[in-house]
Amino acid sequence: MSVHISAKKGEIAKTVLMPGDPLRAKYIADNFLTDVELVSKTRNIFFFTGKYKGKEITVGASGMGFPSIGIYSYELFTEYEVETIIRIGTCGAYSTDLKLFDILNVQKAASESTYAKFAWGIEDDAISNQGTAFDKINETAAELGLNAKPVNIHSSDIFYRKDPAVPEIAVRHNCPAVEMEAFALFANAQHLGKNAATILTVSDIIPTHEQISADQREQALRTMMELSLETALKF
Ligand code: HPA
Repeated sequence: MSVHISAKKGEIAKTVLMPGDPLRAKYIADNFLTDVELVSKTRNIFFFTGKYKGKEITVGASGMGFPSIGIYSYELFTEYEVETIIRIGTCGAYSTDLKLFDILNVQKAASESTYAKFAWGIEDDAISNQGTAFDKINETAAELGLNAKPVNIHSSDIFYRKDPAVPEIAVRHNCPAVEMEAFALFANAQHLGKNAATILTVSDIIPTHEQISADQREQALRTMMELSLETALKF
């Protein structure tokens, strides 16, 4: 057990797939894994360990924002000997250059957040994905005939804001989209020498207010789930 995860040592696989939403973790476990066990449900943040094509994998939610993913990824890396975390989430596009359902493989996460500085003394405002996961996602996408665009993204603390302009940090680091978790995940992995990547599906186009509808969401996210599961086989 760790402070926020009630699984026993050994009940979590070396590779963890991490959606934001606990019900999405359950969806992956129900639809893609066999021999599934619910190994933690503290705070309704479900962690399931099972097998995908014979390989042991854990899926568990991060919750929303840096504090939440910061806690779960740190405890997984330090108390459960997890080597690789692949976040699978959604993002908002800052322009119509991206389309709904586009899949992104994050190169760097840029943020105004002080998380990395105050946690680990990392002063950079853009942190790269860590280790080999990013390359394995690209390889796997090519094998599956999927286009996973390599891009920098803005990791923001803020969902609602007064000013509709694209934030300065996103312009400076050439970020076409925004989400709220990758920067803290990459910071933890950099500090601890672990693998971390983030795959995102564009769920909304901010300037036009277009959104993936509730009934399109399941199929849209399935593609990203399959990409992450097939990538996990390579670890
Ligand atoms: N902002 C931040 N995170 C998001 C968004 C957004 O517009 N859409 C999906 N995740």
